[in-house]
Amino acid sequence: MPETAELLNPLREGIRLRRTPDPCAMVIFGASGDLTERKLMPALFYLLRERMLPPGFSVMGCARTHRTDDEFRQMMGEAVRKFLRLNSESEAFVEGFEKGLYYLADDFSNPKAYEQLRTTLDRLDQEKGTAGNRLFYLATPPSFFPVIVKNLGAAGLAKPKEPGKTWTRIVLEKPFGRSLDSARDLNQVVTGVFEEDQVYRIDHYLGKETVQNLLVFRFANGIFEPFWNRRYIDHVQITVAEELGVENRGAYYEEAGLLRDMIQNHVLQLLSLVAMEPTATFQATAVRDEKAKVMRALRPIRPEAVQDFVVRGQYAEGYVGGKKVPAYRTEPKVLPTSCTETYAAFKFFIDNWRWADVPFYLRSGKRLAKRVSEISIQFRRVPHLLFRGAGAEGIEPNILSIRIQPNEGISLKFCAKLPGTTMQIRPVKMEFLYGESFGAAPPTAYETLLLDCMLGDATLFNRADAVDLSWEFVDPILDRWKQDGTKGLATYPAGSWGPKEADDFIERDGREWRRL
Ligand SMILES: NC(=O)c1ccc[n+]([C@@H]2O[C@H](COP(=O)([O-])OP(=O)(O)OC[C@H]3O[C@@H](n4cnc5c(N)ncnc54)[C@H](OP(=O)(O)O)[C@@H]3O)[C@@H](O)[C@H]2O)c1
Repeated sequence: MPETAELLNPLREGIRLRRTPDPCAMVIFGASGDLTERKLMPALFYLLRERMLPPGFSVMGCARTHRTDDEFRQMMGEAVRKFLRLNSESEAFVEGFEKGLYYLADDFSNPKAYEQLRTTLDRLDQEKGTAGNRLFYLATPPSFFPVIVKNLGAAGLAKPKEPGKTWTRIVLEKPFGRSLDSARDLNQVVTGVFEEDQVYRIDHYLGKETVQNLLVFRFANGIFEPFWNRRYIDHVQITVAEELGVENRGAYYEEAGLLRDMIQNHVLQLLSLVAMEPTATFQATAVRDEKAKVMRALRPIRPEAVQDFVVRGQYAEGYVGGKKVPAYRTEPKVLPTSCTETYAAFKFFIDNWRWADVPFYLRSGKRLAKRVSEISIQFRRVPHLLFRGAGAEGIEPNILSIRIQPNEGISLKFCAKLPGTTMQIRPVKMEFLYGESFGAAPPTAYETLLLDCMLGDATLFNRADAVDLSWEFVDPILDRWKQDGTKGLATYPAGSWGPKEADDFIERDGREWRRL
């Protein structure tokens, strides 16, 4: 059956089959940071336990504070135990995991540290069989990205050790820039040292199982695609709501705000997956091309029209889970006069044939009533009310909702007849829940994405042009808000669903936010 065999060729079709990466070493800059402890180490541990890492896999942690290899191993072992609830079977893997860890203490700005790094990596190639393949992961505050990239280049670590035989890749954490100009500057530094195909700009949202399932749902099922367009869809709502406030990251949030922290990356990524055209294959270039086309078709929001398309808010004191919580302005390291937005609601349009005139409403915020991320596709009403006078008030438009977290799943709301002798209509739900249907817990986003980098699969990572386009979209809004200061900044009680202005905003269009 040569045809079938050819169709299933993963290289040709870009199908993500289970594969083990080439032997390699990973270097984590910022190895004692929060991200490394909470996300990277637990993800690597799971991959090791599931035997998905290559033999001899080694991690070189780099940070400023002095500690020995053994101290670093102990620290990471503790992090794995703290952030994963290990049973005795998994506990047995911790020692093996720790043995693959090494540590280098120095300042990122010291070029000599990179010489030492190269020597150690060469030694690991010999001793552990890491074969000259290198994955550099920049888990540091973004201000260090340029200096690390330049130093890697100067030390000859950016080029593959043996071109054609070995690979070298670099992963950059978000945020990638804080404006269009700074993102372009950073891209220039990065692509001045690395080739674009060596660069993996991570957005962990894309590693979430349900986000990937969005593509499967749309393109592996024949029944949805025909009505995935302006003829049948009234509007789309995307909600990314968090219960948490800024916790101990007040200083970071003051600089970032919700637009940079959530919208420019995660939410626009979700949007591009909902709106993109089908691709011919599931290969990185094809998927990234289509996503970039969506970004290109986003209708820009001009600075003078910002208030017509965006509502911004900041949380005041309130109650979350029955507990009183402080206002944003009284959080640690936040200015008492801060104008930083912790909530935003948007309306925007995608100017292409598929989506012309279909509004996309999007809201995201901190200290909202519930932690929930959902995409809902709201279909047009039936053209004729056949059941007028017979419970027609029960007829609501169909809604397809894709729940990203928690309780990952998909549900479809449709109308049904209430049992009884009269014709009464009520909306009901048909539901698919990931957990119930598949039993096994899905991998975390970082497990998926780390493995993808080692395998050289960039499908779920951001390309430079998409990053640029997303900043092009949000920059005028940020500029306008900067000019306006507190003018137009609404407030909402912590634990609510956001400012009243956001309800008025969608109600003016004769629509309402979904109750989640
Ligand atoms: N934390 C999260 O949940 C999260 C989520 C998504 C994305 N991110 C992104 O991930 C990145 C890292 O965030 P993080 O919260 O993990 O940062 P962090 O906790 O502040 O960690 C910073 C790390 O960099 C090291 N470091 C700082 N200055 C240094 C210098 N001059 N020389 C050498 N090492 C230095 C620190 O080492 P010492 O401790 O030895 O100083 C520490 O290991 C950021 O880009 C962030 O935006 C984080």
